[in-house]
Amino acid sequence: MAIRNIREIGDEILTKKCKAVSEMTPRVRELIGDMLDTMYEANGVGLAAPQVGILKRIVVIDTTGEDPHILINPRIVKTEGEQTGNEGCLSVPGKTGVVTRPNYVKVVAQGADMKEYELEGTELLARAICHELDHLEGQLYVDKVEGKLMDMTDEEDEGEEEID
Ligand code: NI
Repeated sequence: MAIRNIREIGDEILTKKCKAVSEMTPRVRELIGDMLDTMYEANGVGLAAPQVGILKRIVVIDTTGEDPHILINPRIVKTEGEQTGNEGCLSVPGKTGVVTRPNYVKVVAQGADMKEYELEGTELLARAICHELDHLEGQLYVDKVEGKLMDMTDEEDEGEEEID
């Protein structure tokens, strides 16, 4: 496994829609391992494949540091409520902004075994799911920010606002 280079805003690949993954291959398995390594190395709570330059519908999320979720071809099937808070993105370094997201999300995805499963999340996990799935559509949170995109202070840098 290896750390991959994280693409940053301005890179066209971050604006493109990703393609479905039809089967697990050694190459896809390696990509997922590298995405987890890259996410942990960058202290993110999630990472989407286009952020490492691959236009496939794959997301990894771990909001606690010990519970990695692998989501292949994910789709949101239910949302409830609302949360408004700071969000950040590894592809938009040093910035943060306020985004409103559902407070509860249920997602159906395939795992590393390509079997379908459900994942439910509230609060930070719900926010991370929405943020990462947006990446698969070529969307960045900066286009959903309420008010201005702000510089992240050192203090916020230590916090959990940053998603990926
Ligand atoms: Ni992001």
